[in-house]
Amino acid sequence: MTSDVAAIAARIPKAELHVHLEGTIAPQTYARIARRNGIEPKDPDKLFACNDLDSFLNAFLEAVKVLRRPEDFAELADEYLARSPTEHVRHVEFFISPATQRKFIPDLNLQSTIRAIWDACERARIATGVTSRLIIDMVRNLGEEEALRDVDLASACKRYGVVGVGLGGDERRFPASGFKRAYKRAKARGLRRTVHAGEAAGPQSIVDAVELLGAERIGHGIAASGQPQVLALLRDRGVTIDACPTSNRFTAALADGEAHPLREFIAARVPVTLSSDDPAFFHTSVMAEYEYAAALGCGVEEIVSIARASFERSFLPADERRRRVADVDAYVDGLGITR
Ligand code: ADE
Ligand code: ZN
Repeated sequence: MTSDVAAIAARIPKAELHVHLEGTIAPQTYARIARRNGIEPKDPDKLFACNDLDSFLNAFLEAVKVLRRPEDFAELADEYLARSPTEHVRHVEFFISPATQRKFIPDLNLQSTIRAIWDACERARIATGVTSRLIIDMVRNLGEEEALRDVDLASACKRYGVVGVGLGGDERRFPASGFKRAYKRAKARGLRRTVHAGEAAGPQSIVDAVELLGAERIGHGIAASGQPQVLALLRDRGVTIDACPTSNRFTAALADGEAHPLREFIAARVPVTLSSDDPAFFHTSVMAEYEYAAALGCGVEEIVSIARASFERSFLPADERRRRVADVDAYVDGLGITR
């Protein structure tokens, strides 16, 4: 029954691999941090309203501009990770976008900020067992020189939980071909690689992310829908789609009422995970994304495949990934259903 699947989807152990720390800022937290930093907050009802990728990216930037001190970022991580156990989330990979701070808040010490975020992650791990890792999300709009600085920052911050780099921002105007050096350097430095692609641009953007940048995971990837060759590329290279269905509705990556193609991706044997992306802006949570998958008609098998992939395809070490997948299997065994 659908409702049983929804309950399983809500409770299954899961990892969230695509969430922007800055996009977790709740409206009250935004206002509190703004005032603390001597900034008059914008009306949250207006700030947190968006209806396409451009309006979202502008809103995101406005919210980011009030984050002025390392403690501000740590507070976001504390708040977000405190909610994780209630959603049965056991592992979180946070994107952070330091190039934005470099541009707008040049006085902020980025290494201290990353260390403060990591301290918050460690507090959560000790308190609840929820683990985290950090991914530096390079910003397409700010160009490759900034991206190269981000790669250098990421490699300098491995001791603070940084495991990889990503690429966000405007995919239509700033294609993958402009970031080859940054990704080559990231690989040479032992950093893992993910790319937002196939969100606002078409299937070629996904192919380029894989072939030109060596993406191991694709954020969004909805343009792979109806593209057997792109799906085959992702499957054959073991590249994951980190799907964010509610985000896609808010940024108009999916048309009104259009269903997310995640079942098509699973049927094509592409690893798929589910995430909230920017939960404060999209009024969602990772648990709500799993419930949405159940509402789309996913059966227990598909929900389990998503939860397993979320650990298998995380940037945790192999032994830890295996242990977490075993936790998913133990949960499913405990349900006593024959699969
Ligand atoms: N930065 C934060 N969220 C993003 C998204 N959904 N797409 C591109 N860049 C982003
Ligand atoms: Zn994103």
